[in-house]
Amino acid sequence: MLTPDRYAVIGNPIAHSKSPEIHARFAVQTSQNLTYERLLAPLGGFAAAVHDFIKHGGKGLNVTVPFKLDAFDLATDLTERARMAGAVNTLRFDGDTILGDNTDGVGLVNDIVNNAAVPLSGKRVLLLGAGGAARGVILPLLGEQPAELVIANRTINKAVELAQLFSTGSSIRIGARAFSELHGHFDVIINATSAGLTDEMPQVPASIFSDDSLAYDMVYGAQATCFMQFAALHGAKVRDGLGMLVEQAAESFFLWRGVRPETASVYAALRALL
Ligand code: ATR
Repeated sequence: MLTPDRYAVIGNPIAHSKSPEIHARFAVQTSQNLTYERLLAPLGGFAAAVHDFIKHGGKGLNVTVPFKLDAFDLATDLTERARMAGAVNTLRFDGDTILGDNTDGVGLVNDIVNNAAVPLSGKRVLLLGAGGAARGVILPLLGEQPAELVIANRTINKAVELAQLFSTGSSIRIGARAFSELHGHFDVIINATSAGLTDEMPQVPASIFSDDSLAYDMVYGAQATCFMQFAALHGAKVRDGLGMLVEQAAESFFLWRGVRPETASVYAALRALL
């Protein structure tokens, strides 16, 4: 048997990462001969850890907190979606080339459009947050041709900057608002703030939700997040980010192996483990 190709997820901390469980399932399902491990890199030691991994036969990496900007800087080539995201979550090594990609946005879009069966085309979409997580998903969201994208953030200036950045060359209306300036309801509301990490939620008016809305939280857990509970209370359908996690992994797997794994069974298995 040939030596398996080596992949890993790199971060700090890394013990909690579910990526090895996801990619092991993808590999079995598609009969790909590979290993996928967790790699803890010291803070300040990202580039050295990557080069060491390449030296020892590494073919690709997923990159997580806090190294997505370091990965962006380390890449010799960038996909358009990684360049616009300003961050890299997937690296592929071919000879001296280090390709940096970002599969978070397409993961989110595929989970909403295919798995939740909620089209984005022609819809009013609201993105909450203007940090790295929000920026990472904007280009793929615009690719679905929503009628309008509104970016709302606690610090309004950051939302304005993102709206300006993505408006260049886009025919889609992109607005920037403070939470208190949100009027009317939206078809899809995506929480890309990190508020949930401290059990908080962005202070949005309840009127943004309706019975026809999908409220999507990019984080996930065994229980519904504060944001999901609030949205459900005001009539919205809710979904957490577990599907996005599985879908971004599938897109990375495709970039590395040229094979698209089936995701529904992997999603179900992971949900059962939460
Ligand atoms: P990430 O990589 O997770 O996006 P980040 O770049 O630090 O992390 O961005 C965090 C985002 O969550 C920001 O939009 C932040 O709002 P500010 O720009 O005003 O700081 C948002 N955020 C964090 N805690 C929040 C809270 N309690 N309420 C509302 N927004 C919050």
